[in-house]
Parts: sequence; structure tokens; C-alpha cells
Amino acid sequence: MSRTVYVNGEYLPEEDAKVSVFDRGFLFADGVYEVTSVLGGKLLDFDGHATRLARSLGELEMSNPITKEDLLEVHRELLRRNAIDDGLVYLQITRGAADRDFAYPVDATPTIVLFTQAKPGLADNPMAKTGMKVITIEDRRWGRRDIKTVQLLYPSMGKMMAKAAGADDAWMTEDGHVTEGTSNNAYIVKDGKIITRHLGEEILHGITRKAVLRFAREAQMQVEERPFTVEEARAADEAFVTSASSFVMPVVEIDGAAIGNATPGPVAKRLREIYIEESRKTAI
Ligand code: PDD
Repeated sequence: MSRTVYVNGEYLPEEDAKVSVFDRGFLFADGVYEVTSVLGGKLLDFDGHATRLARSLGELEMSNPITKEDLLEVHRELLRRNAIDDGLVYLQITRGAADRDFAYPVDATPTIVLFTQAKPGLADNPMAKTGMKVITIEDRRWGRRDIKTVQLLYPSMGKMMAKAAGADDAWMTEDGHVTEGTSNNAYIVKDGKIITRHLGEEILHGITRKAVLRFAREAQMQVEERPFTVEEARAADEAFVTSASSFVMPVVEIDGAAIGNATPGPVAKRLREIYIEESRKTAI
């Protein structure tokens, strides 16, 4: 059975959904996106994703074609129509279709697309038990990584470099310091302290990051928001990543070197449990 997707106000079978070849998302990657996870048919941290979406649009002087209330309704309707229990909702808004010109068009109507991805057992990903392996690569993305744009080619290349090296993902580095993973925020744990890069234009302000750091502080764990080096990561007791699709995922190897005893550490395990439990409670 084909999926129902949402395009510019209409719910359509995926094979009938169309976007113009002149769409600036296609021609210029002139668009922003969000990925919201779904557990038990409910959306995790919808509010956080809607707030970041509004910020991304604002930074690109793009108008927001939908209110937060209507956006929530579209998310819920897609979950209903596609009978999603565990999975993801992908949302993309572009500046719309216009004759090709580098300058922003004045009168384009934004394009809005949403679709679902079913991920049965999303919270029971077996990788959480074994942990993942990462390699480090130079961060060659543009300088406004705080805007969640659809320019994802370098992160895609990073994933392929990781695969080729027999790893699961890549951590990107700048001046010897880790910025973030290809599609997640990066953390290390040393002597019980959780260390993750501070917010700025160099990384995406993860919605999962925000929640996890809050839960960590509430559980009296120590948190330090600062850049950390690859050497520090190799010498760490634990490492992990966070994202809407992986929640909290332990990292057990960096560039072929084991982290701690090469198994998921207690801090990552505890944070994963707390995050999933607390997020389920507030899911809408
Ligand atoms: N990626 N950093 C980058 C570069 C990301 O692409 C993501 C999310 C994150 C984590 O953000 P959040 O916790 O809000 O998901 C950090 C999504 C999941 C994706 O592109 O599929």
C-alpha cells in the first residue's frame, strides 16, 4: 500500500505527489527541514521542532506557510492515515518555485511537504546494546550549521566515508575539535562529566540535545558545554550521540580505537532510558 504524503495543503498517494522542477529546494537547496520521532503513535517534542523550524525560516527570511496548530494537525493526520505507531515524520519547507535566479524571489509561495517513515521498534534499536563505531573527518560544511537546511550532501559523503571504513558514522572536526556527527550531536564522558560542544553557528541546536542535557542536570549529572578534541574523545570513558531518530546512542569506537571497554557506558545507557521514558510521557 502506498503512503499518503502531504504537499501544499493536500493529502496524496506518494506516487501522485509533485513539486515543480523550478522549486528552489531542488535548484538551490533553499529549504529547511525537521524530523520528529513518533513512539506509540505520538510525537516527541513537537513544540521544540516547531520552534526550531520557525527560527530556521526566520534566519533565511523565508515566510512560514503554516501555523503551529495546523502543522500539528497535519503531523497527526499523516500518522493516522499511514497507521504509524513508531517512526518519523519528515517535514520540509522551501522558498518555493521561481525562475532560476540567485536572488530570493519576492513573490514565491513556499512549498511544504511532509511524509512519514515507519520504524517499528524505534526505541529498541539493537545498536543501543552494542554501541556504534565512528571515524573522524574534517567538517567541510558551510558556516551556518545552526540553520537546519536541506544541504546535506557533505553529511551524506561523511556517512559513505564511514561505511567505506567499516564504521557506522562520522564525527566531523574543525581545528582538531569535534563539531558534531553527520546527523547527530556528539558527546564524551570523562570522570562522570558529560562534555558536548556549546551552541553556536558551528552545530545544529539539537532538540534531543536540549532535552537530554536537561534530564542529565535534573539527575545531578555534571555537564560541560565546550569544544572537545579528538584526543580527548579517544581518552574518554564513554561517548554517545543524540538525535530525534537515534535518541541517545552509545559510541564505542573512534577511528578504530576502543572507548572505555568498548561497550556502551553507564551514563549513555542511563540517559537513553531517561530520555525515552520522559519523552513518552510528554509525547502528544
Ligand atoms: N538530524 N546535528 C545534525 C547535523 C543533525 O542533522 C541532527 C538531526 C542533529 C540532532 O538534532 P535533533 O536532536 O533535533 O534531531 C544534530 C536528523 C535526525 C536527520 O537529518 O535525519
